[in-house]
Amino acid sequence: MHPGVLHRRFLNDLSSSLFSFVLPLLPTNEELHVKEEVRGLIEKLIKTIEPSARLLSFGSSCNSFGLRNSDMDLVVLIDDSEANIEPSHFVAMIADLLERETNFDVKPLPKARIPILKLNLKASTALPFGIACDIGIENRLAIENTRLLLTYATIDPARVRTLVLFLKVWAKRRRINSPYRGTLSSYGFTLMVLYYLVHVKQPPVLPNLQRIAPLRPMTEDQYTLEGKNVYFFDDVETLRNEWSSINFESVGELLIDFFRYFSHDFQFNNSVLSLRAGQLTKESKGWVNDIDVGGVNEMARDRNRLCIEDPFETTYNVARTVTKDGLYTIRGEFMRATRILTQRPDRAVLALAELCR
Ligand code: CTP
Ligand code: MG
Repeated sequence: MHPGVLHRRFLNDLSSSLFSFVLPLLPTNEELHVKEEVRGLIEKLIKTIEPSARLLSFGSSCNSFGLRNSDMDLVVLIDDSEANIEPSHFVAMIADLLERETNFDVKPLPKARIPILKLNLKASTALPFGIACDIGIENRLAIENTRLLLTYATIDPARVRTLVLFLKVWAKRRRINSPYRGTLSSYGFTLMVLYYLVHVKQPPVLPNLQRIAPLRPMTEDQYTLEGKNVYFFDDVETLRNEWSSINFESVGELLIDFFRYFSHDFQFNNSVLSLRAGQLTKESKGWVNDIDVGGVNEMARDRNRLCIEDPFETTYNVARTVTKDGLYTIRGEFMRATRILTQRPDRAVLALAELCR
């Protein structure tokens, strides 16, 4: 058979294998239901301390990139501006309350840079793996970036969700998804995929939502939150009717090209990935890492090995946790993935299994 035909067949096979791969890894309705109940219960308790408080989910429980048994990210928002609540104090109060009223395993971290509370609900029949959950205070930007990710997913769910979910599983199985151990958060990997679909792929698979003008003019305070411009085009109905990508590549093709791009083309040494603005230089952001700043700043130097600009908090490098070794490992994994997928094994399912081993 002609090699082109064989290649086409492998790509089709790869796309359908990717769909079947992620499908059983999605959370069950029961899991979603229990999580929502837990959120409601905790919210009710928190309201006994501060009636104007609300407890919202963010991260993978509501950006459509959630996997089965993933952690729950929650944030307390206090609507009463007169309430005058100090986050670390509030964390300690919630911890006391939950310790008294629930059988969660409670661990407050009031002194962390952003005070949070860690909770663990033990395994039960409804929740064979229990629930791990982080509660933060007043982190409103996280709610907005969650909404941005969700809106991107909604534009082209079949391709965007499949790619991101697969990448997340792959990164977890290959152990390169541990910000505490020098590699990258799920949020970071998700931004990499979106960056690739908006700025690298030509024609693009996704529009740049932060650059589409609003339907009606907006005032500065309508799109400003904590001093940051959090505007993005979020009218899903209009996007569905008016955006249609002329890129018809399959998920399989996009995945191979994603790995290839980050193995060979992206200039990790001097570039910054910005979903908002495309490729930027480390120099223009002041995120340099090659200057010799001396022993004390050894840690600071390691901070900008991989640079991913947060979509709203543009002075924040989402990948600051990635060390020199971490980046070396991540790039090695991109190369390994490219190798496995381009050696064109007969069966795509086997290639995916090998990829995630
Ligand atoms: N977040 C952030 N900055 C980071 C990491 C995370 O602002 N450096 C916020 C984002 O709002 C993100 C949320 O925390 O959506 C959750 O991040 P993370 O746990 O990395 O992603 P999830 O999508 O929740 O993935 P997982 O299923 O692995 O938990
Ligand atoms: Mg999470």
